Amino acid sequence: MTPGTPMTDRTVVVGAALLDGGQLLAARRSAPADLAGRWELPGGKVEPGERPEDALVRELREELGIEAEAVERVPGQWPLRAPYVLQVWTARLRPGSPAPRPLQDHDELRWLTPDRIWEVDWLDQDVPAVREVSPRLTTGPR
Ligand code: CDP
Repeated sequence: MTPGTPMTDRTVVVGAALLDGGQLLAARRSAPADLAGRWELPGGKVEPGERPEDALVRELREELGIEAEAVERVPGQWPLRAPYVLQVWTARLRPGSPAPRPLQDHDELRWLTPDRIWEVDWLDQDVPAVREVSPRLTTGPR
């Protein structure tokens, strides 16, 4: 990055590795056509001036109707279609949150146990992040 470039100029997409009871939530995209049917870590674009962790909470509320919180950043970032990069945080449901349901962008949700994590067709760009998160399913927040 050029020195002096504000951080808000980065076009970050945040993805949530939502963990609950040792399972990871996968969401199947319903749009756009080239991504429909593939599975992703739910999330979306960080808005200018927004903290990524806040974007994550907002996107999960909009897309899944849940109240969640970011737990920790998964090391690394992965290029998407320019100029976007994907950053991933683990996340958990706040006490009393509704259960996730597909409100927009998705047509199916699935909680995956560690042995089932590769049974869904993850978006190519999400695979490295899922690989990074999978060991935490046994040790992460429950
Ligand atoms: O909801 P919003 O419009 O902010 O973002 P989105 O359409 O959900 O995601 C923005 C871009 O990031 C899309 O091109 C998605 O395909 C991509 N994305 C991804 O590759 N992996 C994710 N886990 C989430 C989004």
